[in-house]
Amino acid sequence: MCELYSKEDTLALRGKHIGPSCKVFFAKDPVKIVRAERQYMFDERGQRYLDCINNVAHVGHCHPQVVEAAHRQMELLNTNSRFLHDNMVAYAQRLAATLPQQLCVCYFTNSGSEANDLALRLARQFRGHQDVITLDHAYHGHLSSLIEISPYKFRKGKDDKKEFVHVAPVPDTYRGKYRENHPDPAGAYADEVKKIIEETRASGRKIAAFITESMQSCGGQIIPPAGYFQKVAEHVRSVGGVFIADEVQVGFGRVGKCFWSFQMQGEDFVPDIVTMGKPMGNGHPMACVVTTKEIAEAFHSSGMEYFNTYGGNPVSCAVGLAVLDIIEEEDLRGNAVRVGNYLTELLNKQKAKHMLIGDIRGVGLFIGIDLVQDRERRTPATAEAQHIIYKMKEKRVLLSADGPHRNVLKIKPPMCFTAEDAEFVVEQLDGVLTVLEESIRSQTKLVISENIPHRTKMLKESPGDLLDENTPEATENASRKRNGECIKHSLLSKRLKT
Ligand SMILES: Cc1ncc(COP(=O)(O)O)c(C=O)c1O
Repeated sequence: MCELYSKEDTLALRGKHIGPSCKVFFAKDPVKIVRAERQYMFDERGQRYLDCINNVAHVGHCHPQVVEAAHRQMELLNTNSRFLHDNMVAYAQRLAATLPQQLCVCYFTNSGSEANDLALRLARQFRGHQDVITLDHAYHGHLSSLIEISPYKFRKGKDDKKEFVHVAPVPDTYRGKYRENHPDPAGAYADEVKKIIEETRASGRKIAAFITESMQSCGGQIIPPAGYFQKVAEHVRSVGGVFIADEVQVGFGRVGKCFWSFQMQGEDFVPDIVTMGKPMGNGHPMACVVTTKEIAEAFHSSGMEYFNTYGGNPVSCAVGLAVLDIIEEEDLRGNAVRVGNYLTELLNKQKAKHMLIGDIRGVGLFIGIDLVQDRERRTPATAEAQHIIYKMKEKRVLLSADGPHRNVLKIKPPMCFTAEDAEFVVEQLDGVLTVLEESIRSQTKLVISENIPHRTKMLKESPGDLLDENTPEATENASRKRNGECIKHSLLSKRLKT
């Protein structure tokens, strides 16, 4: 492999020309990847990493069938969608066949953000309403229209929530408002949406859409309780709004038992609009919005034309068709069920062994490991999570942490992930957790034997430098520590710097 720059030069040039806005994974010691195949990535020294986080390389990095399909079509023709072409209609037909019958009109875009932006336009045009209900901690894309409905982003800035945006609590039964011991969490969380709708109505505003990921990913790998979507849809539709299911991260069979994650809510639930992206092109930029005839007709009857230069071009559609073929031919959904269940089982055994693991949740190859400092209080173990992902990188396993507290290890690998990969990850994680917990135990003893003035002195040293990234949690944790909470953990975390 011929490299243009050394790793150090690449890093320096990135700092100079790309700037700090686009963060890299493992910011303190980024990885330079030069090639990949299946579920493995290789750095410039040929070192192999097991990729547990790349849900874009859905059917496996550089799958030869995808490469071949793109190559063949690229040699023949690539153009915009103003000409008739078989690939576009063939792809639309195949895609529609994976969805409930009502969802039959496709709009092709180049990114998940474009798809969600168009979904908002469709929803607003449908009844002429403007307001949007979104879930707390949600992320729906990088366009202005989507930052506005993404608390994950706008809360990190000046928290300037627009008046047409309404934030509902995340239906998180582990750390949310209504938990696993609630008799009807789906109903209780849906009632929160109903309350928002009533308040909005009383103030003269009108709901255009409720948007949610079918399972919240950036928000911390959250699986909504069954029946929640049906109830929310009923409330939203009763005031002329539509239900948008964002499947950009979680679609295309990741959950195994269904092709789309919203289908886990039950056959009686059908969203009005579905958006998709990432896995769709296995790394090739393609995305899509699928909706009903009624919503599409309302959009067109306004005189609005939708045109997108690259969306649905013959090469993208050839790639998309290859991805759909591979999911079927290699039984990747079956693999997600088998390997996902096995991995969850192994992780649950780790939970029995390691106090830092508060919750294991997941379906298929979408799994979250919620790390806690204290199982009872469910205090997020943010610094510990950062420490673990760096240690796992040393073991050649790529993981990352997300969620509002950045304490949830997320696992969403290419769908060709094997049982052996699952065993390897768990073995490495077990080793890292064992060492970490041992060090926590010995330092806890140390803390107990230390006197208070000394503790205070250490806290004053640098309360904000415990975390690797400059996150809101760093400030939040620092203020909790200043208020006297989590004293033991702050000392421990301080020693966990990677
Ligand atoms: C749930 C969700 N929706 C939309 C997007 C935006 O997709 P893209 O980055 O392709 O614009 C993302 C990207 O991370 C996402 O996670």
